[in-house]
Amino acid sequence: MKVATHNLRCTECGAVISGDAVNSIFRCPDCNGLYDVIYPWSPNGSTAISNDNLPNASALRWLWQERRTSTLPVDQSGVWRFRDLLPIVENPENIVTLREGNTPLYEMPRCAKAVGLDWLLAKHQGMNPTGSFKDTGMTAALSVAADRKFEWVACASTGNTSAAMAAYAARAGLRCIVFIPEGKIAWGKLSQSMDYGAFTVQLKTDFDGCVRILTDLVTRFPIYLLNSVNPYRLEGQKTPAFEILEQLDWQVPDHIIVPGGNLANSSALGKGFIEMHRLGLISRIPKVSIIQAEGANPLYRWFIDENRVMRPVKADTRATAIRIGNPASWRKAANVIDALGGWCEQVSEQEIALAKAQIGAEGIGCEPASAVTFAGLKKLVALGKVNREERTVLILTGHTLKDSQYTIDYHRGELLTDTEKAQIGEADQARHTALRKPPIVLEADSNVVLHALESHMKMTQHV
Ligand code: F0G
Repeated sequence: MKVATHNLRCTECGAVISGDAVNSIFRCPDCNGLYDVIYPWSPNGSTAISNDNLPNASALRWLWQERRTSTLPVDQSGVWRFRDLLPIVENPENIVTLREGNTPLYEMPRCAKAVGLDWLLAKHQGMNPTGSFKDTGMTAALSVAADRKFEWVACASTGNTSAAMAAYAARAGLRCIVFIPEGKIAWGKLSQSMDYGAFTVQLKTDFDGCVRILTDLVTRFPIYLLNSVNPYRLEGQKTPAFEILEQLDWQVPDHIIVPGGNLANSSALGKGFIEMHRLGLISRIPKVSIIQAEGANPLYRWFIDENRVMRPVKADTRATAIRIGNPASWRKAANVIDALGGWCEQVSEQEIALAKAQIGAEGIGCEPASAVTFAGLKKLVALGKVNREERTVLILTGHTLKDSQYTIDYHRGELLTDTEKAQIGEADQARHTALRKPPIVLEADSNVVLHALESHMKMTQHV
């Protein structure tokens, strides 16, 4: 394993600093910009090297494949298996892993058909140890915290980052404090941070308010910030891009569709694809499109604004994971859309609910924030931004069990208000009716059950 050979570059003013020179809020002291981790092979890096001295693409592919058969924890991790492209930890013994990554890439034939595509896959990042994509970023940044001998780590979260941080901190024996907006996250996620032993603080504010308090705290207390402004998080979160390519036998897909909240994940995946391209691992880069919920859509507003001004919004959506109005990494995400030729869309609460039920009916399932990808894909197809033969991959970011209350409310018909229901068009109305499977209560009598089964068969068709 190579020791750390990286720098940090400000994404706004381009200033380059060494990794250990960064301040506690991970922002450039001159322009307040966020940093990217750069390596000798990073495109346009001041430390750029000639093509002749880049790591060898075929050797990397072979090595990453070989490590799959190893019993070493770092080789079994779907993040650290690619450690050649994230040399961020000085002492490899400080790596904290729960064998994250190695998530499945599922075919989605029914969803593909529903949207009129020949081919549709879903990379299910909800199949990580704590049930979300955050584990891939957390193993990276928390290992850096352990490497730099921090005792305390902290994050503000809509629930998944906090669950991941609490688990990895517990594994590493670090102490952690979690800030979550009171009453605005799914219970399963709150239970995780308690289960893993975090000091959990429910602040009487929203996610954006939690970020404000935490940003102040880290300047007054020696605590390592693990929100996605920490650029090491993104180094872990870029590795699903490597996995997707491996899983597709290095055939590049055309389009990747990602949910957008604080807007770090889209940029992390984009960074992964760009680095693979620079290293000659792939010959072209897929488009990356970002989908937001209508009630938490600052990037969408920026995208359609002819002056391209970012204006924070007061966020509100039942997809609580992405209930974010002032996304920290919006500039990075905007750069990825522009550089890779992607698109930005917004989707309504009704569209999210339907998309989630359709993904569930594939036997895959995901949390509401992940379902925006499929809801958004429908819009991109309708707009002609995705063609029938385009090879598209949805990034499903969280497990369906993360927010089971949402699912139960949906199937019982209690999720949407009457006004929201009335706004659903006829075709989608029929889809909802076919997909909704509310539980029924029966007497414990097999005749009664048989009768109920027969009338259920008459009334429903298989979707
Ligand atoms: N999907 C899920 C399930 C998430 O938890 C998040 C973010 C996103 C998508 C959006 O990713 O912020 O990188 O654009 N959750 C954060 C959290 C904010 O605290 O767990 P993003």
